Amino acid sequence: MKIKKHEFPGVYVFIDEDGSEKIATKNLVHSQKVYGERLIKFEGEEYRVWNPRRSKLGAAILNGLKHFPIKPGSSVLYLGVASGTTASHVSDIVGWEGRVFGVEFSPRVLRELVPIVEERRNIVPILGDATKPEEYRALVPKVDVIFEDVAQPTQAKILIDNAKVYLRSGGYAMISVKSRSIDVTKEPEQVFKEVEKELATYFEVVERISLEPYEKDHTLFVVRKP
Ligand SMILES: C[S@@+](CC[C@H](N)C(=O)[O-])C[C@H]1O[C@@H](n2cnc3c(N)ncnc32)[C@H](O)[C@@H]1O
Repeated sequence: MKIKKHEFPGVYVFIDEDGSEKIATKNLVHSQKVYGERLIKFEGEEYRVWNPRRSKLGAAILNGLKHFPIKPGSSVLYLGVASGTTASHVSDIVGWEGRVFGVEFSPRVLRELVPIVEERRNIVPILGDATKPEEYRALVPKVDVIFEDVAQPTQAKILIDNAKVYLRSGGYAMISVKSRSIDVTKEPEQVFKEVEKELATYFEVVERISLEPYEKDHTLFVVRKP
């Protein structure tokens, strides 16, 4: 068993006893588990194994994502934070110098995040609707990165509307797109092309990566605000 640095700062490669490679982040809150993930102790540090079947961002990294704008110290607006599975790894990466502003419109789901953020204080949970970015203006400053995973038909518009208000110039956004949430009747590739076209009306599209086999008919885009 061994842990080594991944090319993305704050991300680690964990080589398991059977030789298989997994990804992990260094646990910001000692002994805290967020979604039943494995905790690994190595050379005096504790790491959380990042499950790509539970996290689309984890799936994208394992699939060979090339651009990863979330870094130690980054401020991140996370749309669709849910109970914090992926956001907790983002929180590990940005560390105590960074911030994750997590927007979620389901009070029931957000309630599950509350005990986690009591210790993981770099996540700011926000009960809000991502289709109405002005609702949380008092709570969110300009950020370096927006991550969106809301599985809604108007996903691209939601990202553009939030980027207009919160993303700094030159900042990056990442969006996970589930083709069936947008249009079940169309071929996934057709849906992804249309989303890419819409994103390109406001952003420079930097990268597009499929999340198969971890997530069926999902693609993640990385875009940059000029
Ligand atoms: C696929 S889940 C997110 C999973 C999460 N990103 C993770 O990996 O841990 C999508 C979440 O987006 C939330 N959501 C959907 N539409 C939203 C909106 N307009 N505003 C805020 N949250 C929304 C849903 O309630 C749900 O919790």
